[in-house]
Amino acid sequence: MSFDEQLEYLADLKRRAALGGGQDRIDAQHERGKMTARERIAMLVDPGTFEEIDALAVDWSENESTVERDYGEAVVTGWGRVEGRPVYVYAQDFTLFGGSVSKVVGEKIAKTMDLAVKTGAPVVGLNDSGGARIQEGVDALAGYGEIFIRNVRASGVIPQISVIMGPCAGGAVYSPAITDFIFMVEGTSQMYITGPEVIASVTGERTTFEELGGAKSHSAKSGVAHFSAADEQECIDQVKRLLSFIPSNNMDDAPYIDTGDDPNRSLDDILSIVPAEETLPYDVRDVIERLVDNGDFIEVHESFAQNIVCALGRIDGHSVGVVANQPMYLGGVLDIDSSRKAARFVRFCDSFNIPVVTLVDVPGYLPGVAQEYGGIITHGAKLLYAYAEATVPKITVITRKGFGGAYDAMGSKHLGADVNYAWPGAAIAVMGGDQAVNIIGRREIQAAEDQAARRTELVQDYKRRYEHPYIAAAKGYIDDVIDPRQTRSKIAHALEMLRSKAETLPAKKHGNIPL
Ligand code: HXC
Repeated sequence: MSFDEQLEYLADLKRRAALGGGQDRIDAQHERGKMTARERIAMLVDPGTFEEIDALAVDWSENESTVERDYGEAVVTGWGRVEGRPVYVYAQDFTLFGGSVSKVVGEKIAKTMDLAVKTGAPVVGLNDSGGARIQEGVDALAGYGEIFIRNVRASGVIPQISVIMGPCAGGAVYSPAITDFIFMVEGTSQMYITGPEVIASVTGERTTFEELGGAKSHSAKSGVAHFSAADEQECIDQVKRLLSFIPSNNMDDAPYIDTGDDPNRSLDDILSIVPAEETLPYDVRDVIERLVDNGDFIEVHESFAQNIVCALGRIDGHSVGVVANQPMYLGGVLDIDSSRKAARFVRFCDSFNIPVVTLVDVPGYLPGVAQEYGGIITHGAKLLYAYAEATVPKITVITRKGFGGAYDAMGSKHLGADVNYAWPGAAIAVMGGDQAVNIIGRREIQAAEDQAARRTELVQDYKRRYEHPYIAAAKGYIDDVIDPRQTRSKIAHALEMLRSKAETLPAKKHGNIPL
């Protein structure tokens, strides 16, 4: 073959690889409102930066004389840059065998992940697959197993992001579940262990793919998905935005951005946002918006367990994770879902050197039989565990109230927070006065002639004696009582001081978080 012929032959192979399952299937993919694997990668990475690997990988166990091989198999893999930073990508190609995972597909994804770990860069997996390649049997299952073990070993080393852009069924859901964040697209992506037909035959329940495993269900009900987008473009934009807040690996810091926002900026209208009366609701996102640089933050699990807000933003140009009770939902109480949500977020931040800023306004843990039977003890403990285990800088501000075990759990000094502040109106106690007098004042109220009046007196006395921040300040449990308008500057100064923080936990194989 002449050199020109060699190049023509190579170009032909690449053309065939690029066509995946062929033009008809590409058209069918578009008709369903879905992009192809390569189009998705092009949306994600900076133009001209994608370096594909294994485009010529084939299942060599096929008859060697077969000319019409499926070059590249059902996944496109490689690396590129997102806003200048290296990122590894794999995108399942639904046009070939429904994007199903074969031995070759598993090997391609595993190779990509290995490179990502070796070089310390995030992996973004674009999932659109019918699951294990049925015809390949155990080889396909082996392919998945190779991905799972890498997901686990890479956890806490490089950020792993799963984007679901089509079906993700059966055991296939477990790779995304191990990764740090799951993104879903409304209307076109579904995750489920067993589909509606199997469910109908086993339990008799009637449901649809979308109702069962769609983006809305998983982002609001199960909490499996962290982000949900209206379409693929919005989804990829969300991925890029998330990446901008997080480091490339666990040895790195998140990118510093010169935001131009004065760290000493006074939060002038904060007192008109947070009502002094501790039971009145407000949207804590309004506080976060004022706290972070230019009001710019991204909320994780926006629609799930809305009684707690977890967000990534920047203060003085450096990324922070913000955990805040949300008085607008369930009074900001801690329950099973909010504990799970915040615990996982704190652990993500801790894994990737992102300081945690906690805004506390919590009435306690949610009472109830359903909560107890659902395991609030175990799930609530996750939050305590996550805070206590985290060695990143931890700064906590009690804005209105911190009651009971929830006071301890929400980044208290006792769980190792570095700097703890309270606003002057903050109530820090075992419980609120209304509940407390029912216990410690019961006999006195019963003995009184005017029981209602005595009760009111006792509540007022309790509030005067206990519901303020000065006992905690006297004991050093909080480091200062601050003017709420100075909250941003106080946090910014603490973060600056803590930038050189180095804390190590006792040597061990790993802890045993109450899962
Ligand atoms: C091989 C598959 C496949 C699979 C789909 N295809 N899934 N080929 N193995 N797992 C093929 C189809 O045969 C079809 O090929 C093409 O992909 C497109 O599929 P359609 O069914 O036409 O598409 P659609 O109607 O959109 O339905 C998509 C789907 C459905 C919902 C994903 O294909 C489906 O239910 N697939 C099986 C899902 C499943 O049960 N997978 C196993 C899960 S268990 P042709 O050539 O006819 O167009 C699992 C275990 C993992 O994955 C374990 C890890 C531990």
